[in-house]
Amino acid sequence: MSIKSDVRKITTNTLQQMKQNGEKISMLTAYDFSLARIVDSAGIEVILVGDSASNVIAGHETTLPITLDQMIYHGASVVRGTSRALIVVDLPFGSYQGNSREALNSAIRIMKETGAHAVKLEGGAEIIDSVERIISAGIPVMGHLGLTPQSIYKFGTYTVRAKEEAEAEKLIADAKLLESAGCFSVVLEKIPSQLAEKVTNEISIPTIGIGAGPNVDGQVLVLHDLLGITHEFNPRFLRRYLNLHDEIMGAISKYVVDVKSLDFPNENESYN
Ligand code: KIV
Repeated sequence: MSIKSDVRKITTNTLQQMKQNGEKISMLTAYDFSLARIVDSAGIEVILVGDSASNVIAGHETTLPITLDQMIYHGASVVRGTSRALIVVDLPFGSYQGNSREALNSAIRIMKETGAHAVKLEGGAEIIDSVERIISAGIPVMGHLGLTPQSIYKFGTYTVRAKEEAEAEKLIADAKLLESAGCFSVVLEKIPSQLAEKVTNEISIPTIGIGAGPNVDGQVLVLHDLLGITHEFNPRFLRRYLNLHDEIMGAISKYVVDVKSLDFPNENESYN
C-alpha cells in the first residue's frame, strides 16, 4: 500500500459531518501541482480549482474566457499534487449553460480527465436541470450563489449581491433548491453576513463563504490573494497572510544584481 493511500481523505461525507459537529471547513483555490501540494500538506479540507485561474493565472479581466480544456489541465495538475483534500473543479462559462446534456458531458470530462472529486456550477433555478442531471450520473456538485463572476456582464459590477429583499429571497429559494437537488455544499459569495447566516441555518448542507461573514460553515479564498501575489486587488473581505509580491520582487531584483555583478554563480555553484 502506498503512503498516499494511507492518508485519511476528505470526502463530501466528512464535510457534512463537520457541519453537524460545528467544525469550520477551510477551502482554498489552487491551479498547479506545486502549490496544490503545499496547500494539501497544510491541512486544507477542500481545494477548489477555480475558474479564477482565468484571472490570476492567465491574466484575463474576467472568468469568462477560460475553456474546459484549460480547466482540465489545471485540475489534473492539482490532483497530482494532492493526497488528502477533496478537489472541486469549476465548470467554466459556456460549458454547462446550454442544456443539461452539455453540462453532464462537461462534468464527465472533468471527472475522467482530471481525477477530481466534484464539480462546481454557478447559479440556482436557471441551471437546476443541469445540476440534477450531473448528480444523477453520480458526480457530486457544489453550488455557487450570490456574486457569480460568470454573470459579471449581467450584474455590471462586483459589488455585494442580495442586499434588496427580492434578490435575498431568490437566493434563499435557490439555496434550498440546490439542497433538494442533492448538492453537497454551496458557496455564498459577497452577500450580507445576516443573509449568509440565515441560509446556513435553513439548509442542511455546508455553506462556504467568501465575503459572506463569519456565520457560515466554512471559508474560501483565492490562494494568490491570500499570499499577496495579486497585491493590487483589495476587497474588504480579503485577509492577506503574506506579501509575496514584494518578497518575490526583492528576490528577483537581487538575482538580477548578482548576475550582472558576477556574484552568481560562485565557485561552489559551478562544476569543475
Ligand atoms: O473561481 C473561484 O476562485 C471561485 C471562488 C472565488 C469561490 O469560484
